[in-house]
Amino acid sequence: MALPDAFQHLALPLISAPMFLVSGPELVIEACKAGVIGTFPALNQRSSEGFEEWLQTIRSALDEFEASTGRKAAPFGVNLIVHQSNPRLQADLALCAKYQVPLIITSLGAVAELVDAVHDYGGVVFHDVINVRHAKKAASAGVDGLIAVCAGAGGHAGTLSPFALVGEIRQFFDKTVILSGCLSSGQDIATAQMLGADLAYMGTRFINTRESQAADEYKDMIVDAAAGDIVYTPEISGVPANFLRPSLVAAGLDPDNLAPKKDIDFGKELQAPKEGAKAWKTIWSAGQGVANIHDVPTVAELVQRLQDEYQAAGERFSRLSQRYGVAAGEGIAEGAAL
Ligand SMILES: Cc1cc2nc3c(=O)[nH]c(=O)nc-3n(C[C@H](O)[C@H](O)[C@H](O)COP(=O)(O)O)c2cc1C
Repeated sequence: MALPDAFQHLALPLISAPMFLVSGPELVIEACKAGVIGTFPALNQRSSEGFEEWLQTIRSALDEFEASTGRKAAPFGVNLIVHQSNPRLQADLALCAKYQVPLIITSLGAVAELVDAVHDYGGVVFHDVINVRHAKKAASAGVDGLIAVCAGAGGHAGTLSPFALVGEIRQFFDKTVILSGCLSSGQDIATAQMLGADLAYMGTRFINTRESQAADEYKDMIVDAAAGDIVYTPEISGVPANFLRPSLVAAGLDPDNLAPKKDIDFGKELQAPKEGAKAWKTIWSAGQGVANIHDVPTVAELVQRLQDEYQAAGERFSRLSQRYGVAAGEGIAEGAAL
């Protein structure tokens, strides 16, 4: 395990992933109170002033929680888009330093100056990657963790299997590795660790919580969806991403014949043919793990359930390892219940 010091006291090795238009202060606060890392994209607020208000809200809610319960909240994190289309980067980074945001998650660009600036105030930087080339670049920029965004993830997903990407990253990177893509249960969190990751990263599962900012129709669509309802396409946001097929249809698009899109812009919502239809806002993203999501619990209920499942998965594995851990030729332990 390679975890930064500030992350040693989590209830689960889990990050509630940042999601455009979905993660806000309520979700972050409840995740941190429940003992898992809560995060949000800075761009979920339309201005740096609004972003600062959210930082104040989160800081004061977590301070109050710690003072009134005597328990420690998990650290929280902010996602910054490091790309020329984000003119707020420097202003938002300065606010992260002012409020000592414990975790910065960078997307697109991994820049040594930014990593140094975050280290200077005592924060850590995780960078999300979909391939080994970007992972090596980010490692040499000095990031503290690499988020392996694998096939089937919600948002801008990769195409690599987690077995391949985590395994390859581990060959040159001994800091924190975080696995992203289709994780929905406590068993999935345990599996991420078995695969060699230190932390699990869950997006879509947290869309379907009471505290997320997603519309009820979005949550219902996730409950009804299976992996076959997820369309992987670059034509909505300019970069390959996973979207819910019924939301593409509702926007007046033909999911199997989408028009090519040339520009990339992460800060704006994008227009679709049907009036009022916009990428992320009404054309909804989700990962292939949707079939394992059946409800909309509170974050606290969800984290409790994930802990129970994680525990059960660990017990099951320890029975399995006893059964299969015998020396070759000794045979299988009799009556080993799996
Ligand atoms: C609706 C939605 C919006 C997202 N927005 C962002 C974002 O703004 N920044 C980011 O780094 N990742 C974003 N992601 C990706 C998630 O942080 C995470 O990598 C992904 O959801 C994990 O896969 P899963 O959804 O299968 O759990 C988004 C994902 C979804 C589903």
